[in-house]
Amino acid sequence: TILILDFGSQYSHLITRRCRELNVYAELMPCTQKVKDLTWKPKGIILSGSPYSVYDADSPHADPEFFSLGVPILGICYGLQEMAWKLGGKVAKCDHREYGFAQVEISKVEDGASSVNALFEGLGEDLQVWMSHGDQLSELPPNFHVIGRTKTAPYAAIVHDSKPLYGIQFHPEVTHSTRGKEIIGRFVLNICGCKSDWTMEEFIGKEIARIREICGSKGRVIGAVSGGVDSTVAAKLMHEAIGDRFHAIMVDNGVLRMNEAKQVHEMLNKNLGVNLTVVDASDMFLSRLQGVEDPEQKRKIIGNTFINVFEEEAAKLEAIAEKEEAEGTEKKGKIEWLLQGTLYPDVIESISFKGPSATIKTHHNVGGLLADMKLKLIEPLRELFKDEVRALGRLLSIPAPLVQRHPFPGPGLAIRILGPITREQVKILQHADSIYIEEIRAANLYDQISQAFAVLLPVRAVGVMGDKRTYEQVIALRAVKTEDFMTADWFVFPPEVLRRISSRITNEVEGINRVTYDISSKPPGTVEWL
Ligand code: XMP
Repeated sequence: TILILDFGSQYSHLITRRCRELNVYAELMPCTQKVKDLTWKPKGIILSGSPYSVYDADSPHADPEFFSLGVPILGICYGLQEMAWKLGGKVAKCDHREYGFAQVEISKVEDGASSVNALFEGLGEDLQVWMSHGDQLSELPPNFHVIGRTKTAPYAAIVHDSKPLYGIQFHPEVTHSTRGKEIIGRFVLNICGCKSDWTMEEFIGKEIARIREICGSKGRVIGAVSGGVDSTVAAKLMHEAIGDRFHAIMVDNGVLRMNEAKQVHEMLNKNLGVNLTVVDASDMFLSRLQGVEDPEQKRKIIGNTFINVFEEEAAKLEAIAEKEEAEGTEKKGKIEWLLQGTLYPDVIESISFKGPSATIKTHHNVGGLLADMKLKLIEPLRELFKDEVRALGRLLSIPAPLVQRHPFPGPGLAIRILGPITREQVKILQHADSIYIEEIRAANLYDQISQAFAVLLPVRAVGVMGDKRTYEQVIALRAVKTEDFMTADWFVFPPEVLRRISSRITNEVEGINRVTYDISSKPPGTVEWL
């Protein structure tokens, strides 16, 4: 395992990604991690970049013990400055902040280097790299020498004379550094000696064994499923590990997509064999949502109602188990665990040394369940990125259309109906949305879009149908492309696809006479309208 210490760079998680793409397991930890608290010994350490300057009073620093562990270390940008500064070098402000492409000239043997350094082995004499820094090294620490320079950075890459300590001023983890992934590969594979043996097959085997061990021979697990990728993959994995001792609950909150509860039942229960109860609680949700327009209020109501319904269902399951136990017909134990489909980006966010970043909207989760139910949390996906979850889903034989499915928010259509929420409004939006997605799939564009959905606007517009004037509602279509949903751009559709979608929606969905397309990016917009 490679340990990546995060000093707060926006690229830190990309270092983790690159290692994993090389099939080397890497874990990101906050830079406040102490050596004495580590429960495992890393084969190598990478120090990330940072928006800070090493001399700032509040700048983050690594435990000095890391430098005497004897394992290879690669400092990137701030990581280089931190290491060099700790080991006796000097760091200074650059005359000009450097941001963008740069050319690194690799020190040649003729120029005194004894051999091409292992970090750049086989990568040629010049590297195109991405720089983003305001400080740089102004004096080498003792026993270090230069292995690469740029026009403005004389110490763009350095190495210790006898120890495996490396520093580079540029960012190999971003794709603009054309051979960056190979540089990371030289470090983790050749210098640290890691093997490329972290594969998804391996992960499944280990995770199933881990789940079996922590659940013991009787413990039972419950978990909510939504029909999304994460909860489906997590549920299937639990099923593989402990079979019927895992029980999935799907809550139909009345604001799901068209036929969703039915489809989830078919898929999870009939096709994948997962033990599942679908609870139709739509009346309760819709009555509590009646007359509510404020988006945060909608999220709270849905979150809280969800917890009520889920707990009630869990209590029913527990009562059945107790009865069976009393009759001596049941071999399963108590419900002890709650499954959550937490992914690695959420974990990273919550372990950041700066604390979780400010949330713009209160995203609904089921965290509130734990306190009341005294359940322990089980999170089999917590080490994985989204595309790794998708790869895992494919290996678990979950059908491709589900694995590639766009995300769908917990509060569902409630945050896509901008006016009052009623069953009729939900029906209108479900219908329009299903036509939209159907046409996107028919045009083979679904996988090019990160998220697409329809929104029901709280306005009426005048139109004409046959000889009659109409005064009906308006649908807005949204489709975005994004890497991480923090920023997003609107998707450029071929005009004929939009034309077909609009024509079908206005013709087939009663109550809609106008369709608009949302051309706002995030920021300043958000992906959802509420
Ligand atoms: P925004 O609108 O914040 O959306 O740009 C970014 C991503 O988050 C999803 N989203 C939510 N997901 N509960 C969720 O589970 C929520 O309350 C919620 N609000 C937004 C949104 O669909 C998009 O994928």
